[in-house]
Amino acid sequence: MSPSADIKKDEQGMGRLSGKVAIVSGSGRGIGRATALRLAAEGARIVVNDLDAAPAEAVVAQIEAAGGVAAACIGSVTEPDFGERFVKAAVDGFGGLDIIVNNAGYTLDGVIQKQTDDQFQAMMDVHVMAPFRILRAAAEPIRVFRKAEIEAGREVVRKVVNVSSMAGTRGNAGQVNYASAKAAVVGMTKTLSKEWGRHKVCVNCVAFGLIETRLTKASDDPESRIEIAGRTIQAGIPAAGLKAMADLVPMGRAGRVEEAAGSIYMLCSPDSDYVSGQLLEVGGGISL
Ligand SMILES: NC(=O)c1ccc[n+]([C@@H]2O[C@H](COP(=O)([O-])OP(=O)(O)OC[C@H]3O[C@@H](n4cnc5c(N)ncnc54)[C@H](O)[C@@H]3O)[C@@H](O)[C@H]2O)c1
Repeated sequence: MSPSADIKKDEQGMGRLSGKVAIVSGSGRGIGRATALRLAAEGARIVVNDLDAAPAEAVVAQIEAAGGVAAACIGSVTEPDFGERFVKAAVDGFGGLDIIVNNAGYTLDGVIQKQTDDQFQAMMDVHVMAPFRILRAAAEPIRVFRKAEIEAGREVVRKVVNVSSMAGTRGNAGQVNYASAKAAVVGMTKTLSKEWGRHKVCVNCVAFGLIETRLTKASDDPESRIEIAGRTIQAGIPAAGLKAMADLVPMGRAGRVEEAAGSIYMLCSPDSDYVSGQLLEVGGGISL
């Protein structure tokens, strides 16, 4: 099922995120794409980011075709100036910054004795340093927006959702780099929820189990060989392991990207305006 960008509106013609501006990293494909489409469907204006221009531009076109508003900010989240550029795209382009979804990422697996420093560092760069820089770049605009809102006597609740993994919360053999990085995302989330509560920013974290994307295809599926910044990476999971993993899910199957996006939307919606500093594991009931 392909994620839909149909705009949802109430009787007054308002979506639940009408007036909000969201930035979603890595939203050209997979969970990020489904999230961008979902937030747009609820009325948010979206800055779509991806390393690859074509899928990002296709998501922008899909949102616009459905009557939404979006712009692309192409580039790798690991570029040192990317955080500033991404935040600026929202603030200058749409005049606000209400929702930040740190989603971009990939896996670079290997058992510890075969992992190089570069392999470990690549995961820290994309999953930890990049969200850190994006959030640091957002701090000043958020402070300025908040000050104006206080002066106007308005309370606006902003949302950050950081994407982690159950590899980070529970460990996963073969992923010491990825799991370490995704665990760091939890610490970042909990810390920022304490720093930014006074700015009325809810900072939460979603750790996915097994969600159907190119990262979790069987590794003999050609789609699991992915290009990241000119490097070909063998993502995916060996077919036997994939079946064993799906068998461990109490709900009996991997999650769909729309379901993953639904959990992120939950933490962006007004219903979670007093929920902050939380880690939500979204794994169809996995608790191993
Ligand atoms: N699929 C799962 O089961 C699963 C489980 C746990 C966590 N996650 C996490 O969810 C997030 C999304 O993964 P997905 O499964 O949707 O994968 P995906 O490959 O389908 O989508 C990820 C997107 O991020 C982009 N991207 C990768 N590196 C980037 C970079 N440096 N700069 C900008 N864009 C970049 C890719 O081009 C791709 O379009 C990742 O952080 C991943 O670690 C996924």
